[in-house]
Amino acid sequence: MRVLHASLECYPLAKVGGLGDVVGSLPKYLTELGCTTEVIMPFFDNPRINKLPCENVYSDTLVLGSDSFDFTIKKVISVEFGFQIYLVDIKELLYRPNVYSYDDDTERFVAFQIAVLNWILYKDIKPDIIHCHDHHTGLIPFLVSQVDIYQSLIDIPTILTIHNAQYQGQFSYEKLDYIPQFDLHNIGLLDWDQCINPLATAIKCAWKVTTVSPSYMNELQGEANGLERLLSHEKEKCIGILNGIDHQIWNPETDPMIISNYGSKNIVSGRKKNKSWLCKEFGFDIDKPLVAFIGRLVYEKGADLLPDIVSETLQHLDINILILGSGDPEVESRLSELKERFPNRYNTYIGYDEKLSHMIYAGADFLLMPSRVEPCGLNQLYSLRYGLIPIVRRIGGLKDTVIDIGDDGFGICHDQVNVQDVYNSIKRGIEFYNDQKEYKKTQKEIVKIDHSWNNSANQYIELYKSLKQSQ
Ligand code: ADP
Ligand code: GLC
Repeated sequence: MRVLHASLECYPLAKVGGLGDVVGSLPKYLTELGCTTEVIMPFFDNPRINKLPCENVYSDTLVLGSDSFDFTIKKVISVEFGFQIYLVDIKELLYRPNVYSYDDDTERFVAFQIAVLNWILYKDIKPDIIHCHDHHTGLIPFLVSQVDIYQSLIDIPTILTIHNAQYQGQFSYEKLDYIPQFDLHNIGLLDWDQCINPLATAIKCAWKVTTVSPSYMNELQGEANGLERLLSHEKEKCIGILNGIDHQIWNPETDPMIISNYGSKNIVSGRKKNKSWLCKEFGFDIDKPLVAFIGRLVYEKGADLLPDIVSETLQHLDINILILGSGDPEVESRLSELKERFPNRYNTYIGYDEKLSHMIYAGADFLLMPSRVEPCGLNQLYSLRYGLIPIVRRIGGLKDTVIDIGDDGFGICHDQVNVQDVYNSIKRGIEFYNDQKEYKKTQKEIVKIDHSWNNSANQYIELYKSLKQSQ
C-alpha cells in the first residue's frame, strides 16, 4: 500500500503546531508497519529546508486564473526522516520564511494543491491513497473527483483529516477561476455559506473524514463553526482516530534538548535537575511548585484568560508560573506586563522555542491547558511521557486522554472555561503536589502510558485497507 500525505507542515522541516508533529511522525510508524508512506509539502525558505540535499523530479507550469507559475517537485535525498519527503517549490508563492499568514494564502494553497496533482498525473507509480490534512489541502478531494484533467486519478481514494475545524480557508467566488475546469453543475460541492470553503468541500468530497480524537468528532457534529449540519449529514464516513506521539523524539531518556535525561527509575532526580535549570533561567525558587503553559496564545487555547489566571492564582497561592507562547498581540503584551507585578514568581517567554518546550515538559510540575477547543492536543501527551501532571479542561482530545485523580486517574480536570474553575484546578493540583508520595507515584505511572502511534497507526492502516477493498 502506497499512501501520499499532503500537508503544509511536517516536523522537523516546518512546524507551527501539532499538525507538524503529526505529519512528521505518523508516516514513520505507517512505514514501520509496512505501508509505503510519502509526504508532500511546500519548499519553504527556512534554514532546515534550504540545507536539504534534493533531486528535482518534475518541473511544470501551473495556471492560477490569469497568472501562471513555474514549479518544481524536489525529492529529499535522506533517510533521516523514516519516510520519503517531496517538496513543492513555487518560488513566487511558497518560498517564504513562514508557513501561514500571508495575504495571498489562498493563492499559495490552491497552487500547492494543483502542483501536487499535476505531479501525481505524471508519476508512473500512483499513490493508492491520498491523505489530506486540514483545509490547506481540502480542495484535493474535489479536484480529483471533479476536474476534467485529473479524470485518470478519479479512483484514488482521498481522506481528509481535520486537525482544526476553526480554520476553513474560505475564499470568494471571484477566485473561482483558480479551480481548473470542471462541470459547473457541481459547483455546489465547493460552496458553503455563499463562498468557496475548502474544508467543507473536503468533507463533501473525501471518501473518509477523520478527526484527531473521537470526542472532537462528536463535538463537531454538534458545533463546528457552521459545519455541524454538514458533518452530521456525512457522519457515515466520519471517524475519530486519536493522535499518537513520536516516542523516539519525545523520550526523556534520550532527548538531546533537555539538560538531564532520565527514565522511570531516576525520574525524580532527573526532573529536579531540569527544574533547577528552569528556575535559574526564569528567576524562580526551586522549592515552590512550578505550573507551566506552552502553546499558541489564541482564544481556542483559553489564552485570553491566562493573565487573569496568573493574577488570581498568584494572589492566593505561593507558587511559580511560566508561560511559553506566542499569538494574539494583546495577550502577549498583557502577559509581558505581569512580569513586573510578580517578579520571581511569574515569567514568560513570548516566542517559539522548541528546546525550551522540551525543558518545560522535563522540569515543570504541572502543565496547564485551559482550552476552549482542543481537537486532540499533543502537549498533554508529551507531558505524560515526561512525567508532568496535566491540568486540563475536559474537551476534545483532552477528555479522551486525561483522567482526573478523583477518578483514579493522573490529572486534574474541570469542565468550564473560566478563571475561577482553572484556579480551583490549580489549587487542587497544589494540594496533590503537597502529598509528595502520591504525586511522585503518579509521575512514575504516567510515563508508562503508551500514547505512541502504535495503536492509532494501525487504525489508519485499517481505514486505508477498507477503502481499497471497497473499490
Ligand atoms: P496546536 O496544534 O493546536 O497548536 P498541539 O497541542 O497539538 O496544539 O501541539 C502544539 C505543539 O506545538 C506541541 O509540540 C507544543 O510543544 C508546540 N508548541 C506550541 N507553542 C510553542 C512554543 N511557543 N514554543 C515551542 N513549542 C511550542
Ligand atoms: C490542531 C489542534 C490540536 C491537535 C493538532 C494535531 O492544531 O488544535 O488539538 O493536537 O492539530 O492534530
